Amino acid sequence: MKGIVFTELLDMVEGRFGMNMVDDILDDSKLSSGGAYTTVGTYDYKELLNIVSNLSHKTKIPVKDLVYTYGHHLFSRFHALMPQFFVGKNTCFDFLQSVDRYIHVEVKKLYPDASLPRFKTDMADHKTLVMTYMSQCPFADFAHGLIQGCIDFYQEKITIEAKDNNTPEEYSRIFTLKKNG
Ligand code: HEM
Repeated sequence: MKGIVFTELLDMVEGRFGMNMVDDILDDSKLSSGGAYTTVGTYDYKELLNIVSNLSHKTKIPVKDLVYTYGHHLFSRFHALMPQFFVGKNTCFDFLQSVDRYIHVEVKKLYPDASLPRFKTDMADHKTLVMTYMSQCPFADFAHGLIQGCIDFYQEKITIEAKDNNTPEEYSRIFTLKKNG
């Protein structure tokens, strides 16, 4: 997993819980990287889960909720860090449909060793987008937080229903997004 996912997580933890919490959760983790992340480095995704699990232990917030919250937080950072991906994406559905066919394609060009999820998107009707997450990594809650972050960014009235669809080969979750009104 790319270092930027780690550095942004640690920035969020510092902002919400303080620098001491960052030190504590890194000290508690048996990290092969030693906890010194650079944005362009590549690290085992299990280290991220290890850090989040320590944070969960200290804050008593379930891992699932922390991973979701991190996804939600990260979406607002995307706009600040990479405004180019938002050009011409006028609605939440426009943006979400561009993740697999454009954004993650560009990410892969930039970081050939990135390990990215795949998303299948289908408009079931003009108000319903079905977005299926598929990955070798167990980050469906992260995807859920990012998608909710996208809805909130565009300030649209959209509800999400999520249904796990894991197979022995991969992690998968089906998100059904319905526009209200
Ligand atoms: C709502 C929009 C998005 C969703 C739902 C999404 C979803 C995800 C998820 C779930 C992962 C974790 C890896 C996995 O599960 O296999 C991931 C990784 C990543 N995504 Fe996205 N993403 C979104 C938008 C973006 C944008 C705008 C960028 C900006 C460039 C981006 C860049 C990345 C990068 C760099 C990684 C790390 C890859 C790695 O660690 O090897 N994503 N994305």
